[in-house]
Amino acid sequence: MKRRNFLKIGSTLTLAPLIGCAKGNKPYNPFSQKLPIPKLASYKMINGVKTFVLDIQEGEMSFFKDTTTDTYGVNADFLGETVRVDHGDKVAFHVKNSLDELTTLHWHGLKVPGVSDGGPHSKIPAGTTWTADMQIAQHASTCWYHPHTHGETGRQVFMGMAGLFIIDDANSKSLALPQEYGVDDIPLVIQDRRFFADGQFMYKQGMHDSMMGVTGDVRLINGVIDPYIELEPKAIRFRILNGSNARIYNLILEGGHAIHQIASDSSLLPAPVQLKNIVLATGERAEIVIDFSQFAGQTLYLGDGMDNRRLLAIKVKQSQPTSMILPKQLVTINDYQDAKPVRTRTFTLNMSMGFLGINEKQMQMSRIDEVVKQGEYEIWEIWNPSPRPHPFHVHGTGFKVISRNGKSPLLNETGLKDTVLVYPREKVQIMVVFHHLAPKDRPYMYHCHILEHEDAGMMGQFVVEV
Ligand code: C2O
Ligand code: CU
Ligand code: CU
Repeated sequence: MKRRNFLKIGSTLTLAPLIGCAKGNKPYNPFSQKLPIPKLASYKMINGVKTFVLDIQEGEMSFFKDTTTDTYGVNADFLGETVRVDHGDKVAFHVKNSLDELTTLHWHGLKVPGVSDGGPHSKIPAGTTWTADMQIAQHASTCWYHPHTHGETGRQVFMGMAGLFIIDDANSKSLALPQEYGVDDIPLVIQDRRFFADGQFMYKQGMHDSMMGVTGDVRLINGVIDPYIELEPKAIRFRILNGSNARIYNLILEGGHAIHQIASDSSLLPAPVQLKNIVLATGERAEIVIDFSQFAGQTLYLGDGMDNRRLLAIKVKQSQPTSMILPKQLVTINDYQDAKPVRTRTFTLNMSMGFLGINEKQMQMSRIDEVVKQGEYEIWEIWNPSPRPHPFHVHGTGFKVISRNGKSPLLNETGLKDTVLVYPREKVQIMVVFHHLAPKDRPYMYHCHILEHEDAGMMGQFVVEV
């Protein structure tokens, strides 16, 4: 699974129609169910603070005919409502745990102090509420939230705990881009699942699943298997999150039509990048714009070239097309301009029989692995000697990808990122800086975002000090 192999698969222009579903469960006809759009979470203004209540709850879904699946969700049965806030906002989240088990809620991509980050130390015991306060001081981006419970993250995400966290700023609002949520600005949370014959989720079944990561034979978008969406013949923006536990997608538009990527994890890209395929590892996001003005009356498919499979049917309405010209420039990123890195840290991703770790260590809640100084620029070098690609994620920062095996990063990695896929035998250099503090009892994490790897110990903790 080297990069060139990914790209080769990406040139596949036709996708096999979907066949079959999990064990004994009766699937709906493929692409017969409408894509649901997660609701926007409501808030109350309390003393100038946008105050949200997020209720982590048990739910039930009918992924198949004649059966229901027990699920988790946030203000919903499965997945979570979309949080949407502005740069500069003061925000508070009251996170209520209505489950029967301990959990936590982490804001993936948010640059907030360790005490508000929602890592494994910010435990929310069953029946209690945890409050996170933050001020939004970062670029417009599509972030997300999910649990980060020590050793249990993979299972809790599999059950459905995940939602989008969208940040707008003055620049992003001023750009001539589609931005009407659910209308021409469509969130897509892509996941895969497998099920038992009785309709329940089949999560980790043993060591093999820990090593390989849990993948499934069924694809869900926004919680529905193989959905369709109906759209106007115009430019449409999709905010895509790979919210899967382990699966890496190579997104393509059947027929090889052009996709314009406008944002990655942590910011808009400096300029739109025209692509035929987008590799998206777990935890990564991509915002794309597709111009459907040429396709009135047609059905297109967004698919996965890795797996040669359709994911979403896009029915373009037979109406008057509207064309749009993408802005030439999207954002100026000054975050790392003139930065002088003061040191280099190296992180080796270890994977051998029964052992998943970083720098030969497995995650330990009581051990701090790195001590970083606030505001100092550093190079982090991630080396993957293992035969599997690992998406490396860092809390508390939006980083810049500097190089891949000494070569320039890909064009769609030129914005800020918080998760970077490191291919086998690859050394990726990133530049990081942390503007907030993370104390010993609420450290930040760095880890592989294959959730079974993270849960098995491929994670470390660091503090940020003055
Ligand atoms: Cu998306 Cu440490 O997490
Ligand atoms: Cu994170
Ligand atoms: Cu991994």
